[in-house]
Amino acid sequence: MKVQVCIIGGGPSGLLLSQLLHLKGIDTIVLEKYSRDHVLARIRAGVLEHGFAKLMREAQCGERMDREGEIHGGFEIAHDGVLSHIDLHKHSGGNSVLVYGQTELTRDLYEARDRLGGKVVHNAEEVTPHDLTSERPYVTYRSNGETIRVDCDYIVGADGFHGVSRKSIPKDVLREYEKVYPFGWLGVLSRTKPVSPELIYARHERGFALCSLRSQVLSRYYIQVPLTDRVEDWSDDAFWAELKRRLPGEVAGRLITGPSIEKSIAPLRSFVAEPMSYGRLFLAGDAAHIVPPTGARGLNSAASDIYYLYHAMLAHYQSGDDSGLEGYSAKALARIWKAQRFSWWMTMMLHRFPDRLDYEDRLQQTELEYLLSSETAQRLLAENYVGLPF
Ligand code: FAD
Ligand code: DHB
Repeated sequence: MKVQVCIIGGGPSGLLLSQLLHLKGIDTIVLEKYSRDHVLARIRAGVLEHGFAKLMREAQCGERMDREGEIHGGFEIAHDGVLSHIDLHKHSGGNSVLVYGQTELTRDLYEARDRLGGKVVHNAEEVTPHDLTSERPYVTYRSNGETIRVDCDYIVGADGFHGVSRKSIPKDVLREYEKVYPFGWLGVLSRTKPVSPELIYARHERGFALCSLRSQVLSRYYIQVPLTDRVEDWSDDAFWAELKRRLPGEVAGRLITGPSIEKSIAPLRSFVAEPMSYGRLFLAGDAAHIVPPTGARGLNSAASDIYYLYHAMLAHYQSGDDSGLEGYSAKALARIWKAQRFSWWMTMMLHRFPDRLDYEDRLQQTELEYLLSSETAQRLLAENYVGLPF
């Protein structure tokens, strides 16, 4: 089989790129390791930057997102038993974010690919990129006991942190930067009315907590837990009790609890791989970088990679201009590092760190006090949270 662009990974990054390129007449295939049901059972991000929402509309995938997503012009920070409001709209010059679940967004992208007759292969095993530095790279995979070869002009590695693409770049070319945090987030999805119309990020001596939502009948809550905890250690009752302890009394008092319909633990990690391209392979999204989820940047950073890669590929196919592809890694990384900085900063400000000096705890408290007392500091937060320009 021959296509122009072979995309490894059928998560949001790979599907969005495939859809955008298809609309411009560029032929792609998406190779996904798992079934569609498996991919759509993952509960992940919930907050979209306005620039990402715009890209979804450009991909003709914005209709349900605009109908069902909620525009949020601010969020709350809970600390010392009170809530402080952060006005994103005011402090970012009129921007906002869209609360719409990654699961639904991925479903919309799959449906759009089906509508256009896009090639998406599920249960593709042993996906392997070959001859990356040649003019004629190709990808092989196994399906139903057969090995299939896809010849292409370019390969895009959008196969997440554990994928094969990044690992196919030689070790002496790739430089990896990593910070692993000594805790994870235990997340619960429940069919209950959200405790607050806006997200609440809570700093508490027992650990961080986050009240988020997917809709007015579906809530998503997280609490910081030690890395040694397992999901089985946490009954629903224990989760709700711990969440309440970390929220101001007034908020805890109106929290509606219910059975969890999903419960999982995500370890927190910061990670960047440089460069994001090698020969004819281009990495995008979690395949190249991970942020701790505190600043809601992960999915949004994946979208900015896709924006740059899409435009670089358009320039190549429409006018033979390769400067975008040559500059892709540097351009994408410049924005990625800013998202890394912001996510690290939010994480350091709001979590409880075991074995930390009292001095560092006081600095953390001062960081938050400064943020809440300074319009300038809130403008920096808002500018980053709604999304830096592409
Ligand atoms: P993925 O979604 O990981 O998709 C990669 C795909 O490649 C997967 O479908 C995988 O099955 C497939 N694959 C893997 N290996 C192979 C292989 N060898 N061959 C073929 N296919 C393969 N981000 C935000 O912006 N906002 C948030 O609020 C937010 N909250 C989060 C909360 C949690 C609890 C977690 C865990 C993450 C959160 N994120 C958030 C991060 C966000 O979910 C990711 O950044 C996003 O999923 C990245 O998309 P992707 O397409 O690059 O990678
Ligand atoms: C969600 C996750 C985040 O990491 C975040 O910062 C905000 C919301 C969520 O899953 O809803």
